[in-house]
Amino acid sequence: MIIAIDGPAASGKSTVARLLAQRVGVPLLNTGAMYRAVGLACMDAGLELEDGEACAELVRGLDLALQPDGTVVVDGEVVAVAREEAGAAASRVAVHPGVRTRLVELQQAFGARYGCVAEGRDTTTVVFPDGDLLVFLAASPAVRAARRAEQEGHPERAEAYALELAERDARDASRAVAPLRPAPGALHLDSDTATPEQLVERIVAALEEVTP
Ligand code: C5P
Repeated sequence: MIIAIDGPAASGKSTVARLLAQRVGVPLLNTGAMYRAVGLACMDAGLELEDGEACAELVRGLDLALQPDGTVVVDGEVVAVAREEAGAAASRVAVHPGVRTRLVELQQAFGARYGCVAEGRDTTTVVFPDGDLLVFLAASPAVRAARRAEQEGHPERAEAYALELAERDARDASRAVAPLRPAPGALHLDSDTATPEQLVERIVAALEEVTP
């Protein structure tokens, strides 16, 4: 069973994916964690993160594994992917096609082996376009900004985040590599007015229709 969830930043993908994975009993494939681990590895190796060839070469030689419990192990060591610099490094290395090709291979192998709820940009369009169910989870910039401001403990920054998110959406939708785009046939959901639990219920209902 493979379910893929895509959508813009802070639309609630992670929360919904985690609850859904528990509900249907398959591991969560957090693709962002893999990009974060690669970003850190390239940084630790002293690479120029804009150098696509060097980053891709390092990734091809990296012993990188995502465990079914969600931990990312690189060369036998668990990587602390939540570190702040990991997110920034991830988005810089994620633009390189050679990096993406390798991670997509690993993600597809993970899905084939365990089944999964895969979460992240391009999981519906590139990694698992033939998944059992594809979900595009959207939310308005205002709601996403309020959510992010709350998570970061700075509710007063909601307006600034809303502007940032709108800019990032435009950039993500127009980028050449793995742009933000709903996959054909994806179930469109909106987290503005539904709780994560309600969204999980809708996904489970849709799943029952496609996998009787
Ligand atoms: O989701 P998360 O914040 O952990 O992702 C970190 C970065 O990795 C994203 O900002 C994005 O640039 C990149 N990424 C990606 N494709 C994915 C997952 C993450 O390009 N499937």
